[in-house]
Amino acid sequence: MTGDLDGRVFLVTGANTGIGLVTAESLARRGAHVLLAGRSEARTLPVVEAIRSSTGNPRVEFLPLDLSDLESVRRAADLFLARDLPLHVLVNNAGLAGVRGLTPQGFETTFGTNHLGPFLFTVLLLGRMKRTGHSRIVNVASRAHLNARSIDWGAQRRPGNSTGGLAEYSVSKLCNILFTVELARRLSGSGVSAYSLHPGVVATEIWRELPWGVRHLVKLFMISPEKGARTTLFCATAPLPQLENGAYYDACKPVRPGRAARDPDLAAELWRRSVEWTGAPSSS
Ligand SMILES: NC(=O)c1ccc[n+]([C@@H]2O[C@H](COP(=O)([O-])OP(=O)(O)OC[C@H]3O[C@@H](n4cnc5c(N)ncnc54)[C@H](OP(=O)(O)O)[C@@H]3O)[C@@H](O)[C@H]2O)c1
Repeated sequence: MTGDLDGRVFLVTGANTGIGLVTAESLARRGAHVLLAGRSEARTLPVVEAIRSSTGNPRVEFLPLDLSDLESVRRAADLFLARDLPLHVLVNNAGLAGVRGLTPQGFETTFGTNHLGPFLFTVLLLGRMKRTGHSRIVNVASRAHLNARSIDWGAQRRPGNSTGGLAEYSVSKLCNILFTVELARRLSGSGVSAYSLHPGVVATEIWRELPWGVRHLVKLFMISPEKGARTTLFCATAPLPQLENGAYYDACKPVRPGRAARDPDLAAELWRRSVEWTGAPSSS
């Protein structure tokens, strides 16, 4: 099969459901080679098969990746790097909300899964992306970052206790934007660009931890995963001159994120601590 993305390799995390699934399916339909990275082979392989059959594109695969576990992140990066494939676009889409606890390495679950795992995964793949050239990183953040005024570093080393996990989720999404800003600054001139985005308020499984009644009520006011994937697809595939490196997108347009997300010192401090906490190579 051929399409406008023929010959280009995309890696989408959390693509077995929700926004990630629609993203992966749309890319495959346009001829891309797509790797669906996720923590459950049982939940992802049927999706891989369904996408291959609905698009007629055989270049759709599963990559095992549990973002909450830094050991799994290293194994996934090693598996990908062993393939000797180019990597044109990394879509850091996977995320969770409302789950209390600690990751295997002792970080608050939401921060560990939504920020530290994607941070390490991205940094480990950067060399391949630089070699590929004209490559990009798309980080799916959220307007929820506006609820976070700063980052309490100590709180990232203990289980969260906020109602519904909103405070922890908001901080993790602030981290997605700060990470993007710092990536764009560090990668300037390297041929790799980075974008973050808010997908809209989308009817997906992200709301699974809300009480049943509230979940069904709020879902009435949400957009579909197909609409929710539009800004991700725009950032992942629009011609580079149409995009602003390091920007935060909403409804396919760059918009100004909240004050904390525009703080360069906070972005630099987050990078420094993320390197220290993940053991990522600091030269990136
Ligand atoms: N839905 C919204 O209204 C909304 C709004 C703003 C931003 N977002 C962001 O959009 C992104 C996609 O969310 P969604 O709404 O499509 O949610 P979703 O339907 O719940 O999908 C989330 C995906 O992330 C995966 N994931 C969770 N924990 C993981 C882990 N430890 N390792 C690897 N993958 C993991 C899930 O896999 P499993 O199936 O194995 O759990 C699933 O594939 C998230 O980053 C979210 O924060 C969503």
